[in-house]
Amino acid sequence: MIPNQWYAILRTQDVKKKPVGIKRLEKLLVLYRDTAGELVCLDDRCPHKGVKLSLGQQHGDLIACPYHGFQYDQQGDCVHMPVLGQKGNVPKGMCVKSYKVKEELGLIWFWFGDVRQEHEYPDIPMFKQLKEYKGHYSYYGWDAPINYTRYVESVCEIYHIPFVHKGSAINIWDPKGGRVDNFECKVEDTLITSDFILRPDDDRTAEETLVARKPWTRGWRFGIDVQMPNLILIRSDVFDVIFIPTPIDENTCWVCVCYQEPKRDLLLPLIKPLPIPFWGPVRPWYMCRIERFVQQAKDMAVIAHQEPKVSHPKANRLIPLDKVNAHYIRFREKLIREAKEQQQVKELAKSNPEFAAPTLEQIIGIEEVH
Ligand code: FES
Ligand SMILES: [Fe+2]
Repeated sequence: MIPNQWYAILRTQDVKKKPVGIKRLEKLLVLYRDTAGELVCLDDRCPHKGVKLSLGQQHGDLIACPYHGFQYDQQGDCVHMPVLGQKGNVPKGMCVKSYKVKEELGLIWFWFGDVRQEHEYPDIPMFKQLKEYKGHYSYYGWDAPINYTRYVESVCEIYHIPFVHKGSAINIWDPKGGRVDNFECKVEDTLITSDFILRPDDDRTAEETLVARKPWTRGWRFGIDVQMPNLILIRSDVFDVIFIPTPIDENTCWVCVCYQEPKRDLLLPLIKPLPIPFWGPVRPWYMCRIERFVQQAKDMAVIAHQEPKVSHPKANRLIPLDKVNAHYIRFREKLIREAKEQQQVKELAKSNPEFAAPTLEQIIGIEEVH
C-alpha cells in the first residue's frame, strides 16, 4: 500500500443512518454520520475490551459500544461510561483513533498517511472524464479475492479480453485473440495514459478495421489510463468506465466500478442510445452488475491464481504492450520509497525518549477512577 494517498473506501450512499463496519487498508473502521450529517471514521475497536463499535448504537453524535456502553465522540474520545454514572470521570487515554475522511464525487475517501494541516492534503485523485462528466453514472462495489496490485494490472491491459472474457460483446470476432496496433503510452505527473486499437488479426490496416461495416470484423479504439495510487479508466467510443481496487488486506481488495451512460449502441456504430425516459441511469446501473456478476467472475477464475500474489518489479516478465503496467509498478515502488524516506526524516527530527513499561495506573487509569 502506498502511504500518503487518498483511497476510495465506500460509496457515499453506503453510510446512511446506522454505523457501518468495514476493513480497508488493513484497518478495521467504523463509519457513521453525526447529527449534522458529517461523516465520522474511527477505529472499529473499543479500547476497553476490543469489541467492534460498529455493532453498537449511535446516540446523536456519539457511538456506543455494545458491550458496556462506553460512548465515543466524533474525535474518538470516550465521553461517557455508564458504569461510572453521569458524573463519573472518564480515565485518560480511553479513546479510539479517528481518521481523516472526505466525501467527493459520490465516494468516501480515506487519507492513508500522516496527519497534516488542512491545506496540506492533496486533491482527491480522479480522472477529468468523471470530474467533468454531466450525464448519469453509477457506482457498484464488491470484495475481490486478490491483491489490489493484481487487480490494477488486469484492468490496465485488455488483450486478455478475447481469452478470459470469451463471449463478451467485444469479442465478437473470434477467438484466437485480438491484436493490438498503434499503441502509445504517455506519463504526466502520476497519470499514465495509453491509446491503441484492439482488432482482428488480418491483412487490413488498423484504421480499416475501425470503419468495418460488419460488427464482427470491427476493431475498437481504446484508451487505458492509470491515476496513482489505484484508479484505472478504460476509454472507448462506446463508454468510459472506471475501476478503483482499494486494498482490504494482502489477499483481498474492495473493487468499485463506475459506468457512465454509453455514448452509442455497442453493435450499431452510428446509433446513439435511444432517449427513453428514465432510461439514463438504468444502463450504467445494469452495466455495473454485468461487470460484477459476469466479467469479474471470469477474471477471478484466472487471476486469483497468479503467483506471486502481490506484484512488484520482478514479479512479471512484461512485453512492450504492458508499458502501462510497467509504469504503474515503477510508480508504486517510487511512491512507497518516498513516503518511507519522509517518515524517516520525521522520526530523526523527533527526540528518542527511552522506553519505559507503562504503569498499572496508565493501563487502567486508576488515578482518574477513584
Ligand atoms: S468493550 Fe466496549 S465498553 Fe466494554
Ligand atoms: Fe478482465
